[in-house]
Amino acid sequence: MKKIYTLVCIIVFTLIACETEQKPTNELEAKVSELLSKMTLDEKIGQLNLRGTSSRVKGKLPDSLKQAVRDGKIGAFLNVSNTDYVDELQRIAVEESPNKIPLIFARDVIHGYKTIFPIPLAMAASWDAQVAENSSRVAAVEGASFGIRWTFAPMLDIARDSRWGRIAESPGEDPYLAAKLSKAYVKGFQGDSLNDPTSMIACAKHFIGYGAAIGGRDYNTAVISDAQLHNIYLPPFKSAVEAGTQTFMTAFNEMNGIPASGDRRLLTNVLREDFGFDGFVVSDWDAVKEMIPHGFAQDQKHAAELSLNAGLNMEMTSKTFETYTKELLEEGKITKAKINSLVADILRVKLRMGLFEKPFRVDNSNNLYAAAHLEMAKEAAIKSSVLLKNENNILPLNNKTNIAVIGPLADKPREQLGTWSFDGDGKYTRTPVNVFHDKNANYTFVEGLAYSRDQSTKDFSKAIAAAKKSDVILFIGGEEAILSGEAHSRADINLPGAQEQLIKALAKTGKPIVLVIMAGRPITVGNIIDDVDAILMTWHPGTMGGPAIYDMIFGVAEPSGRLPVTWPKVAGQLPLFYNHKNTGRPVIPEEFVQMDSIPIGAWQSSLGNTSHYLDIGYLPQYPFGYGLSYTTFEYSDLTLSSNAISEKGTLTVKVTVKNTGKRKGSDIAQLYVQDVVGRITRPVRELKGYQSVSLQPNESKEIMFTLSLDDLKYYDNQEEFGVEKGVFNVWIGQHSATGKTAKFSYE
Ligand code: BGC
Repeated sequence: MKKIYTLVCIIVFTLIACETEQKPTNELEAKVSELLSKMTLDEKIGQLNLRGTSSRVKGKLPDSLKQAVRDGKIGAFLNVSNTDYVDELQRIAVEESPNKIPLIFARDVIHGYKTIFPIPLAMAASWDAQVAENSSRVAAVEGASFGIRWTFAPMLDIARDSRWGRIAESPGEDPYLAAKLSKAYVKGFQGDSLNDPTSMIACAKHFIGYGAAIGGRDYNTAVISDAQLHNIYLPPFKSAVEAGTQTFMTAFNEMNGIPASGDRRLLTNVLREDFGFDGFVVSDWDAVKEMIPHGFAQDQKHAAELSLNAGLNMEMTSKTFETYTKELLEEGKITKAKINSLVADILRVKLRMGLFEKPFRVDNSNNLYAAAHLEMAKEAAIKSSVLLKNENNILPLNNKTNIAVIGPLADKPREQLGTWSFDGDGKYTRTPVNVFHDKNANYTFVEGLAYSRDQSTKDFSKAIAAAKKSDVILFIGGEEAILSGEAHSRADINLPGAQEQLIKALAKTGKPIVLVIMAGRPITVGNIIDDVDAILMTWHPGTMGGPAIYDMIFGVAEPSGRLPVTWPKVAGQLPLFYNHKNTGRPVIPEEFVQMDSIPIGAWQSSLGNTSHYLDIGYLPQYPFGYGLSYTTFEYSDLTLSSNAISEKGTLTVKVTVKNTGKRKGSDIAQLYVQDVVGRITRPVRELKGYQSVSLQPNESKEIMFTLSLDDLKYYDNQEEFGVEKGVFNVWIGQHSATGKTAKFSYE
């Protein structure tokens, strides 16, 4: 009996609850226990409190705030942007508070602190873990200099709907790619050692299902089956735990009727027991209190009870823990052991961060916008840009070409930084126009529209006149930063304002048009796709967008991104994702009947009975994984090491990639698998590997992937993880809708 009790104590990390029964197992836990044994209940409750008001504090720090820290009533702060406040608050905490427990300062350092990298969706388009790691390392080095040792990133919400504003911040639609990036981000933020003064603890957010918001409307309900939860939404979070993330953030939304901040199964069973996470979980902003309008908690006290018992350690901004924990304890609605274990998780992380020994920030400000940081940001902007169209190889342009630079985002230092770039300074941003000017390019700049939503046609004539005198029009448009991000969903995702109208007017000049899109999401381009010769998607490319675009336009560098999301033709197709199910009536391309070819007065027939739209059909504008290069590639000779995979064995899949164009270039070879028949139905394809291949003209290389049975396993709705015998299709190719293919079986 005693043995079982001891085991349970270890498993659920209730070392403290069991402190009389067993000695702490290691030095760290011993320190946690020692601290806890000295803390009053008020101090413990204080550790659960993340205060978020001081960014608005002007002038002197309010005495009430200083007193709260002195009394040990605050565990962490967010958004303290003034370093004097950071220093003073920390000094009070470590010198004057009862147990001298240091504070953690947090902020949304999402894709850079000062040096802003491309938005996370763009980073996902790089398919390059090193680029992602560089971005978070640079962000940590710069942000930690201001005392920020905790970032609310990476966001790991799988997003299948481009209307959702926060798709900009997501790793895209694929769990495999997202899991790779997740590890890289955590590694970059946290550095080699958590107690290094330049390391920031990462926060895997939003746990979970935030990206599955109905209709892409922010904060909306998520309905996710267990199989989807495990196969699609959880993998990047699991990967973050494997990479050592120290914190998690709960999502605002409910999933299947339970708001994340009150979901015990998620926060305790999945996160702690299945994943073995031993850091702490913070709520999203006011999310505990928001369980009242969700209709899950009766009042604030009930909300605190639900969250604490679910396993939520720290409450962001709302104050239900601070106000009601004591009462809940007295009423027996929460146990002392529970409080102790919630506090222990936070202390454990503070100890790992070395804050007790080195609580103060190390001023690294000479590193802000360092040349190496800017170089990495430029590389990221190039690697994440996706060439979507390049008719007659119009790109790259010759640098003698006379260019009319037109468009509302050609020279907008703040806008090209994208969402969540609070600390990035527009002064340091290099816009395309800056670079054209500095490089003395042969260009004329006429904005045409003052901002992306501008409806005014008053400057069209100037833009057209400039276009007429040029050889090529470079139209740099898209969305201002404010049109994507949190609470910025759009139902119509065309180019906003009069941009389409201007492009059409410019097309009438007969001059070729290169369209550069800076945006936080895929933009539907059906209305203008035939008016432009090339489309280069740079997303919001960050501080170094200008130099990156200049190099790509003139072929100094090649855009090498591939789509991390399926690009719709129209918003009405959303949600849209490549790893969908086949249905009982999969599309038969030859049988597709477009709406306009249905005879007038047609009697009801089975037209449209396959799973697609009569008007738009069944294809996206561009599939997941798509992206052109300045050269071309050919895939051939797909071979398997065997036509069957065994229980413990592996299968190698090889393919030859040849550069068939005239320039050196690189491609991302993507491996997809389909499990043809499963105990639950399986997606038509799933990404299981990818590799970047760089080739000289005419050069070919054989590349190899290795698959093991684990790569084929999946969860069913009973949370059983496994794979059954049967046939699998495998493809290697340039995107999710192409590839050389073969079959193998598991017998
Ligand atoms: C967002 C989080 C963010 C938090 C703090 C919330 O509104 O959903 O992602 O970390 O604010 O700024």
